[in-house]
Amino acid sequence: MGTILAVANRKGGVGKSTVATMVAHAFSVWGEMRVLLIDVDAQANASLILIGGENWVKARKRNATLADYIYDFFPLKPVEPASYILPEASDLRAQDGGVPPLTLMPGSLEIEDREHEIMVRLASQGTPFHQVEEAVTTRFRTLLRHAGDGYDLVILDCPPGISFSTRASIAVADIVLVPFRPDYVSLFAVDRIGRMIEECYPPRQLKDIPMDQRRYVTLANMYRETSIHDRLVDEMAAFHPIMETRIPQTAAIANAFDWEANRRTIRQKYKSALPHVETLYSELLPLVERRRSSGEETSA
Ligand SMILES: Nc1ncnc2c1ncn2[C@@H]1O[C@H](COP(=O)(O)OP(=O)(O)OP(=O)(O)O)[C@@H](O)[C@H]1O
Ligand SMILES: [Mg+2]
Repeated sequence: MGTILAVANRKGGVGKSTVATMVAHAFSVWGEMRVLLIDVDAQANASLILIGGENWVKARKRNATLADYIYDFFPLKPVEPASYILPEASDLRAQDGGVPPLTLMPGSLEIEDREHEIMVRLASQGTPFHQVEEAVTTRFRTLLRHAGDGYDLVILDCPPGISFSTRASIAVADIVLVPFRPDYVSLFAVDRIGRMIEECYPPRQLKDIPMDQRRYVTLANMYRETSIHDRLVDEMAAFHPIMETRIPQTAAIANAFDWEANRRTIRQKYKSALPHVETLYSELLPLVERRRSSGEETSA
């Protein structure tokens, strides 16, 4: 099992799907790693970025989405995750001109229905209310781990808010990447998810955990070189681990996510935003590698 990287933030619209797919592109093309992106979000934005609308509709018709996988997995009968995973999931060319090893378990609107169904079923079987949440999260965790077997890097693109699947994604992840927009709400939002990731319940507090021992790292996205943004980024850095990479707000990033039927190089896709993807990749690579080798040591 490779590294599991969840991209999460309770706040919506901060660039989670943008960053998740950017990381998937970079690690599969430059790192030549076998990457699986699991789209945990009912909005399915990462899926649309990776395979385009028409292919997503086809995947849904074939019942090849995370929601179907969750449905078929219940009640814990063996299912083959490969049936729900699309190979060759991007419009990119590999460095050697071939197809990058990037695969996708698509998201779909039914994910939340499945969560609810499992919850209701457990409750109707007499599971005490306080144990239902734990049981659903545990089930999701098992599903995600099972799906990620055989990949170098598994990326979980989480929805905004805190659903069962987000909790499970955070719990199962080796690293949680928390993109944020430098604004006044972000510090508060990151504080909440930071405590959740580090399982801080009284008396344990986030500040008791050294920055370099935390499982999450924040990433400034939609950054502009203004004094307000700099101050907000500094404030974030005072309380939370933060990447040196700052991704600016640029049309090239927004445009890179239009899926094209013809494969192109990563340079052709990202155009003027390519240096930002490179910087993010260079800073993230050692973190991913470190978790990979510590995982191998643990399992040896
Ligand atoms: N650095 C950037 N520069 C320009 N546009 C960006 C940048 N990052 C994200 N966007 C745009 O902002 C919008 C929101 O981004 P995205 O969907 O990645 O956020 P999200 O956190 O995944 O949202 P949600 O909470 O709904 O899942 C998208 O239209 C995306 O193209
Ligand atoms: Mg998203």
